[in-house]
Amino acid sequence: MDVHVVILAAGKGTRMKSAIPKVLHRVAGLPMIEYVLATAASLRPLSTTVVVGHEADSVRNTLSRHSGLTFVAQKPQLGTGHALLQAEPVLRHQHGTLVLLSGDVPLLTERTLDTLLTHHIRSGAAATVLTAEVPDPTGYGRIIRVAAPAGRPLANIVEERDATLEQRTIREINSGVYAFALDGLFDTLHHIGTENAQREYYLPDIVRVFRNEGRAAESVAVADANEIRGINSRSELAAVSRIMRTEKNESLMEAGVTIEDPATVYIDRDVTIGPDTVIHPGVSLEGATTIGSGCEIYSGVRITNSQIGDGAIILDHSVLVEARVGNHARIGPFARLRKNADVREGAHVGNFVEMKNTVLGPRSKAMHLTYLGDSRIGENVNIGAGTITCNYDGEKKQATIIEDGAFIGSDSQFIAPVTVGKNAYVGTGTTVREDVPAEALAVSAGKQRNIEGWVAERRKKRERVTTEK
Ligand code: UD1
Ligand code: CA
Repeated sequence: MDVHVVILAAGKGTRMKSAIPKVLHRVAGLPMIEYVLATAASLRPLSTTVVVGHEADSVRNTLSRHSGLTFVAQKPQLGTGHALLQAEPVLRHQHGTLVLLSGDVPLLTERTLDTLLTHHIRSGAAATVLTAEVPDPTGYGRIIRVAAPAGRPLANIVEERDATLEQRTIREINSGVYAFALDGLFDTLHHIGTENAQREYYLPDIVRVFRNEGRAAESVAVADANEIRGINSRSELAAVSRIMRTEKNESLMEAGVTIEDPATVYIDRDVTIGPDTVIHPGVSLEGATTIGSGCEIYSGVRITNSQIGDGAIILDHSVLVEARVGNHARIGPFARLRKNADVREGAHVGNFVEMKNTVLGPRSKAMHLTYLGDSRIGENVNIGAGTITCNYDGEKKQATIIEDGAFIGSDSQFIAPVTVGKNAYVGTGTTVREDVPAEALAVSAGKQRNIEGWVAERRKKRERVTTEK
């Protein structure tokens, strides 16, 4: 079975009132067209053509990681029928079936597409339209059927703006998703006109034109009308995101994850979470994040493109981006793990600690007010409160290495590059400029001086000044 796919993504999306093309707006963390591409790929099509126009380059760039896409340009954008016509050079000599998808209908499932395709091929129709019965058909094209013969075949699709008051009461709508027989498709497409309210070439018009040519158009009704919701406004964007997130949460709970308050938790499509992990309210898990089993993720945490091991605890209001956290490690509250922070098994990172490009070895601890950048810290190391790696010399990033079992006293600074050997001690308030040998104690502060009676002296001086006035 030869299947080709065309995705329409050239429109401006006027109703979004945006500088960004509509199909790149994010639904539950991903540009909406990404979902359409994923569903299209499930058909294993011989070709996938994306029609781009408005902000074509940014759409192309966003999709550049997908291989095997053909882009065709539609300039100017004269309607959905005109959009499909731009794919003619690519598909003119192809046979089989064309599945046409809209870049702004991201909830469509593989199963529904499969049903559409099966019906289309079995019936041998020139076109098969995916339709739905919806409670509120506002904004959609209405399905007009012939009254007489049994089965009430499709006669026409009328856009809202062109519909009579009576037609507007029809609740069966066009999803904007179709299967077409490729043979003769483009010949017919050339016969679509612009006699309508928007002076555009309407693709749904092809149903009427086919009928005039004596070719049949079929329809398949989708079971869950939510699936074919199109996104035309910010409010629809939010509504579809909500549906997407609810589905993701449901599937995770199904798989054994506790989500205390699903309405406040935002989990992107590609995130995976192991069973018996508990997600507290107000958590965002983004991108390609993976979380192990038996973890506890507390409120206000955001985790982006990070890997969390089993049994880890991420306390409130921590932010992790491109970080790794080992099994049974504990992070936060108020910790910030940046790119390539790598907290190993059983290590603890406490409040107001920032880490970047740093390994914190197994069972090591950095509990308070600390910055660790470009460092490698061994196992069982204790990093005292207020420790700072001075990793930037104004030109380059330099490394701090702290070996196993070292003890770093509070308020120490490491002027990198510098190495602290195994089991060494760094005294409180030390500015470490030179390497510390294993088992040594490093101190840099001068000897303390106490000036006896200093306060009384000062008081006397002040009193003298006031009496002289
Ligand atoms: C379209 C259908 C309508 C259907 C609805 C379902 C038409 C005329 N109407 O309406 O019957 O109920 O979808 O969601 O087709 N596009 C282009 N080039 C253009 C115009 C649009 O590529 O010149 C693309 C858009 O980027 C979008 C898709 O086609 O991805 C649909 O266009 P849109 O303007 O949103 O059509 P609707 O008014 O929603
Ligand atoms: Ca639309």
